[in-house]
Parts: sequence; structure tokens; C-alpha cells
Amino acid sequence: MEYRIPLIAGNWKMFKNCNEAVDAATQLLDLVSDIENVDILIAPPFTSLAVVSEVVRNTRIDLGAQDIYWEKEGAFTGEISAPMLISAGCQYVIIGHSERRQYFGETNETVNKKIKATSSSGLIPILCVGETEAQRDEKKTFSVLDKQIEKGLEDLTFDEHHSLVIAYEPVWAIGTGKSATPEQVQEVHAFLRDMIEKRFGNMLAKATRILYGGSVKPENVSELMALPDVDGALVGGASLNPDSFSKIIHF
Ligand code: PGA
Repeated sequence: MEYRIPLIAGNWKMFKNCNEAVDAATQLLDLVSDIENVDILIAPPFTSLAVVSEVVRNTRIDLGAQDIYWEKEGAFTGEISAPMLISAGCQYVIIGHSERRQYFGETNETVNKKIKATSSSGLIPILCVGETEAQRDEKKTFSVLDKQIEKGLEDLTFDEHHSLVIAYEPVWAIGTGKSATPEQVQEVHAFLRDMIEKRFGNMLAKATRILYGGSVKPENVSELMALPDVDGALVGGASLNPDSFSKIIHF
């Protein structure tokens, strides 16, 4: 029987200074001490990665970055590379979040370069995809997702794909309090798994974790996690508070 370990990931976005991040990670660690068989990830801002890694090293909580640049080093002012993230204690990188696509010019092409640099470094990429409200209204959801996956994973080898995580985050559900319905989520997740199967075969499709993101809260997490193709959650707002994030992790 197929089994994918659920992954509950907290995207802290541009919240928390170093002290606040260390406090939240410390509290969370205590609250999830009973958890087994769920992978837990927090992604603080770059500035807090190294200090938070001191708190979570060798614990159940993994560390992720919210973005990456594809070169290893060089004259790229303001950017952060895979080796730097590894040395700061990261295991995961969130790539192509809709806020980066919307406000910072991220495209499917730059996403592709970031995915490749991330997986070849040994870090685990979390590729975010999702349609806007207008695209859903115009019945373009599946063509948008198809393009984001095809272009985002272009020329990726089987091995590079191996550890990849996908996060489906409908843009209209992010930070709005309006989560997608279980039917909408399952329909898209099954579609995404089918795409992976067509590209990389059945085994990898069954092994790939597909997270849902967009207004996940303690109140709606269990019905989402009960869906057959939902393997975890990417949580923004509700991950900032250790109590509510712990409730989500205890789905
Ligand atoms: P939200 O954000 O949980 O606040 O809707 C999700 C995300 O942006 O990853």
C-alpha cells in the first residue's frame, strides 16, 4: 500500500524578528513533542534561519527557506544560494510562491532554475502552483496548473524530481480566510498527481507529496487531510501562532 508521510509546513512570510522567531520555534517544539509520523517544517525569514536552526537542530522540526537564487555565489546583490541555506541549517526551500510571482516578478522560467539548483544541492524544493480567482472563473485552472508544472519542472531528471514536494495554493484562498472546498482540492490534487505520473511514472507519482495551502486553520485541517491526494498543508497566517500551528500539526 502506498504511504506518504504527511508534511505540515509553516510559511512565516515576512513576519517575526530573530528573537520572536526563536521564541515561536521553542514553543512549537514543546507543543509537538508527542508527534510521530508527521514531518514538520517551519520557514522563517532568511534573517532568522541560522538562529532558529540552533533551536530545531536534531529535532522533529525541519527548517526551510522561502526563496533561493540558482547561482552558488557571485555578484548577485541581495540573493541567497543553496550552499548558504544549507550552512544556515535548511532542508527545504519554498519556490514559486504566488506572492513572489505576483510582487517580485517570479516566472515559470525562474522557478525552473530555482528548482534545479535546489534539488541538485540536496535541498528539498516545495514547488507552489495555483490559479487566481479570475483564472478559475474563466475555467482556466487546469491549463494554468499544467503550464506551471510543465515549465517549472522542465528538463528535471527522475533523480532531481525524487524529493520534490508540490504545494497547490489557489491564489484566491491565500490569506483570505476562504479555503477551497474539499471537492475543489481533491480534484486539483488528483490532476497534479496524474501529471506527475505521465511525466515520471506511477512509482514517483505515488511517492510525491502534494500539499494544500490557502487559509488552512485548526478548524478545516482534518477534512482537508482526509482527502486521498492531500499529503499535507502549507500554512501561512495560522502558522505564526505556535498554538494554532500545533493544532494543525495534530490534525
Ligand atoms: P495562508 O497562506 O495560510 O495565510 O492563507 C498560505 C500561504 O501563502 O502559503
